Formats: sequence, structure tokens, C-alpha cells
Amino acid sequence: MAQIVQRPAATPTTHCTPDQYDALYQQSLDDPDGFWLEQAKRLDWFDQPTKGAEWSFAPPDIKWFSDGTLNLCHNAVDRHLGTHGDTTALIFEPDSPDAPGRSLTYSELYGEVVRVANALKAMGAGKGDRVTLYMPMVLEGVFAMLACARIGAIHSVVFGGFSPESLAGRIEACDSKFIITADEGLRGSKRVPLKANIDAALDQLDAPVTGVLVFKHTGADITMTEGRDHWFTDLASDDDCPCEVVNAEDPLFILYTSGSTGKPKGVVHTTGGYGLWAATTFHYTFDYQPGEVFWCSADIGWVTGHTYVTYGPLINAGTSLVFEGVPNYPDHGRFWDVIDKHQVNIFYTAPTAIRALMREGDEYVTSRDLSSLRLLGTVGEPINPEAWRWYHNVVGKGASPIVDTWWQTETGGHMITTLPYAHDMKPGSAGKPFFGIRPQLVDNDGNELSGAAEGNLCITDSWPGQARTVYGDHDRFHEAYFSTYPGKYFTGDGCRRDEDGYYWITGRVDDVINVSGHRMGTAEVESALVLHPKVSEAAVVGFPHDIKGQGIYCYVTLNAGEEQSDELQAELRQWVRKEIGPIATPDMLHFTEGLPKTRSGKIMRRILRKIAENDYGSLGDTSTLADPSLVDSLIEGRQNT
Ligand code: WT7
Repeated sequence: MAQIVQRPAATPTTHCTPDQYDALYQQSLDDPDGFWLEQAKRLDWFDQPTKGAEWSFAPPDIKWFSDGTLNLCHNAVDRHLGTHGDTTALIFEPDSPDAPGRSLTYSELYGEVVRVANALKAMGAGKGDRVTLYMPMVLEGVFAMLACARIGAIHSVVFGGFSPESLAGRIEACDSKFIITADEGLRGSKRVPLKANIDAALDQLDAPVTGVLVFKHTGADITMTEGRDHWFTDLASDDDCPCEVVNAEDPLFILYTSGSTGKPKGVVHTTGGYGLWAATTFHYTFDYQPGEVFWCSADIGWVTGHTYVTYGPLINAGTSLVFEGVPNYPDHGRFWDVIDKHQVNIFYTAPTAIRALMREGDEYVTSRDLSSLRLLGTVGEPINPEAWRWYHNVVGKGASPIVDTWWQTETGGHMITTLPYAHDMKPGSAGKPFFGIRPQLVDNDGNELSGAAEGNLCITDSWPGQARTVYGDHDRFHEAYFSTYPGKYFTGDGCRRDEDGYYWITGRVDDVINVSGHRMGTAEVESALVLHPKVSEAAVVGFPHDIKGQGIYCYVTLNAGEEQSDELQAELRQWVRKEIGPIATPDMLHFTEGLPKTRSGKIMRRILRKIAENDYGSLGDTSTLADPSLVDSLIEGRQNT
């Protein structure tokens, strides 16, 4: 029986009490259009929508608020100028505690965003154009996102840790003609050569990138290509730059994410539905109160950064902290210093960071003043109860509720989450569905499982923040999310529902692994490995990792005549790093003479997963293998890896 941790008592300003949750949730299911058209008043519209949802999942065709027009930059910035012009919009905390930080008001944010928007226009960017952002975690990244929204351009943010190869693929896939970057990024005192990576990416592309806008950050010496590359300061202007009027269904952004097959998918989110989802989930899940400092530690290169660094907080006229650095530089107390220094009230981070910091001992936490904290959140992977308790007791002093928020790049924002003053907490459970969300558990044949049960997690009805398509490939959208269980959105996650209706995510059930809260397709790592001239075949699976949640385990067979060696092992690690980026670096690399295959040649990943997990007792039926004797040599190889 899971231990229950009681929620704190509601206060007069609490956004959602237990009774309100029950009533609102019921209403959101009974009358979705009525509910969401009412919630839509959180946004400013040029044309208030009268239509709610128009959708089908078979095949997917999804629209929300299709007769509404708006602009999300107007919602995040301009509309606050009269009432919150002097409110702090953003706080910047640099990589090094000795470097200067910055904080700016909504009025100042307006000026910055207009300057970037004008620079984009000067390069020729406009409504509907794709703009690739490859930025450090600095305020200019947020300005750039908002500037795109302002002119109706579609941003595609690529995480600064991705390699030139990955970057090139993402620029090409959405045919992006404009790029926004900086000379370099900083992470834990290490320099990330962003502009040089852009140059390397563009060198491999025939793609007609016509404008690269460059922010000066570290002042590094970089190469500027005449006619194509522009310093931001050369193009910026304070000219009037009105917000473009866009339809609710016009795309706001594309974000590439890994799936179980092929190249990363460009998930498309639209302006109205996504904007409302960001606004509503931020308001309720974090119970955000005016004046509070909210800090989401995610990079804007991930969806968490999109929704809860940029859009959610700013649409709600909140104060959002942007942190450039890492949790362990200059020491393991850096997160807690930032909370202390900026009097952070709400802190949102990933279990992997919590586990890594927990391992360093309580002293780093207890030596800082964290009394400003009111609420804590986690996201990205299941949190083990031990880490949950440490977060709750040591960081939160037992007083701050924890919201465990389950969602995905495709969902736009929170889907299943504890609401801080409405639900008691169960460490390790993401809690209950958000308004409008109908989760369903199904068995492998797609039969619905009722009551307390464990199965594959689907969502049966559309919600405003749902992704609408995969950029340029609607069939792939259909295939990836709506074909496994026809008529339902399949999340790719396994999940248990307990007797109280709480949901416990058990992890991915497809060939996607979750490394430090980042999604990695095993197929992508395999493709990178087999590109190496000495590699014949590769199979990649996840295995339990103390800090990362899951690590990357690679089985590799070499071409005839190639020698297995420690040097080659190191070289292959480096190779994957270079092909995809540091986040894909293999944790384990296991040379084997062969891969376990059925007689028809299909790799039996189930066996590879078990061996990687060091779990040999339950290998199941191996008699269908073409060469059953391979299993013993794989087990032996596992012990030597
Ligand atoms: C996958 C989505 C959503 C932002 C970060 C990751 C896993 C996410 C939780 C949670 C258990 C979680 C799921 C999901 N996941 N949040 N609170 N508890 N698992 O976004 O890269 O799109 O990955 O992350 O497996 O499918 P993403």
C-alpha cells in the first residue's frame, strides 16, 4: 500500500480545492466545448472563438477554436503592459555566479522582443516561415521565441547540445531559411561552439538558409559569412512592430522529438490550443500567485522549456527565471544558491537532477536558505519514492507540496498531475487527470481495462494542447500515435491505475528510452553506430541507471576482420556523440559475435533488454532463436562489459 502524503490546506487564494477539482473535471468531460470556450477567456483574442473542438482520431484531424484569431506574443507581453508593465517578467541567472545577471520588466521585455522581431523582418522572415533557434539558455532565447510568435513565424528550437549533423537534419526537415543563434553557449564553464556548429551544419546542406541572426554572448571569435550572417545589433531596431493576427490553428512551433522508428519527428503545435493549454495548466498545476518567482530548470530546447519557461509563466503575467548553468557548477549547491538568491517560490525540475543532488548529501541544501519555496514540481520520468521523499523533506522541509507532472512533447503541457491543494500525494504517482483529459488503459489487444489495472496508456478524447500533425508528414502522425489502438491517442507509456484513481507511469513500452528525462529513440543510436565503417550491426536498448533513470546499452557486431578493442569502444562512443550529441553517448558498449534473431531474421530485443538488465532468470522462450547458443555468450559478454 503506497503511503499517502497529505496535501496542504487551501488558502483564500488557492486556485483549486478538492471540491472545485471534482466539479471542474466533471464539467470538462460533460461539456468540453462549454468548458474550454470559458477557459479561452484566459487569452486575449482579436476574434473571440465561438467554436470549441472539431476533431477525429480516425484518421487524426484536430482543430480547436477554429474561428478565433489571436497572437501569442501579444498574450505573453503586450497585453500586460498596462497592468503589469513594471512587474518582473524574466530573471536571468548566468552560468557562473560571478558573471552579471539581469532582470527585466514586462515593459523592457516588450522592447527586447520588438527589436528581435524587427531583426527577423529585416532578414525577410514573415508569417508562416520556419525559423530555427539554436541558442544558449539565455534571455535572448526567450526573446527570439516571442519575436517569432509576434510576426507569425514558426519557431523550431533545437537544443544546443545537439551535433551539427542532428541540427542539419532539423533545419532541412522543416525547410527553415532563417536561423537565430549566438556565438557560443556556456554550460558549467564549458563553451559550446554554437555558431561554429551552425556553420558545420550549413556546410553539409544544400538548403537555402538565407539569414543567420547572431547574438554576441561570450564574445568568442567566430566566422561570419557575408550576406548570410548578421549580428543582431546590426539589424535590431525599435520601429513599430505590431503583432501579426493569426488563426488559432496556425502553427506556433515545431519541436523535433525522438520516436521508436526513423528520424526525429517535427511535432507541430498551434497557437490557440497550445497557448490556452500552457496558460491553464500553469495556472492550476503551480497554483501561481501574482508576484511569485517561478523557476523551471529545463532548457528551452525541450518542450518543458517552451511551455513552462516561456509561454505558461508569461501568458499568466508571472516572473520566470532563466538559468544558463548546470546543477553541479561551481559546486553541487548551485540550484539551492539560485533559489536562495532569487527567492524562488516554485521550483520545477527533473528526477535525474534530484537523484544526482541527493547523492551529494544534505549539507549542500541545508546550508542555503530555501524558506522562499512554497511548491515543488517534477517532470520527465517516473520519480522513485526515495528521491521524492528527499525532495519533499530536505528541499521542501516537508512543507511544500510536490506536483508530479506527466506529459509529453506531443501533449503540449500537463496531462496527469497532482494539483497541489486539491489532491493528496502518493510518492511516485503522477496523480489524477487534468481537466478535459480522459486517460484509458488498454491491454495489448486494445481492450479497455477498468478500475484498478495496469496497461498501455491511451487518451480517448482530444484536448486543446494536443499536437496537430508531424511537420510535412501527416501519415506519420497517424501511424505513430493513432494506429496502434485505432481511434485512440497512444502515448507509448505503460501505466497502472490504483484503487483511488491515481495513475502510476511505469515507463515507455515502445523502443524509446528515457535518459535523464530526455527521450532517445534506440533506432537513432543504432543508425549512428552502423554508419561507422567498422560496424556491421547494432542493437540498442535501455537499462536501469541510478542517476539517469535509463542508460544507453549498445550491442555491436563488427565487420569481418575487425578487432574488438578498448580503443574501438571509445571511438564508437565518441562517434555517436559526434553524430547525435552528448546526450546520446552510450553508457555500455558490448561487442558480440552476433545478435539474437528469430529464424526470419527479426532481432529479439526482449532478450537483449533482459541481458542488459542483468536479469537472466526470465529470458523466456529462446527456442525460436536461429542460434540459441548465442544467449550464453551474450550473458558472458554482459559480465565483461
Ligand atoms: C515521456 C515524454 C514532458 C516533458 C518532458 C519529457 C516520460 C514525462 C513523466 C512523469 C513519468 C514521465 C514519459 C513520456 N515522462 N513526465 N511525470 N512521470 N514519466 O517530454 O521528451 O516528450 O518525453 O517522458 O515516458 O512519454 P518528452
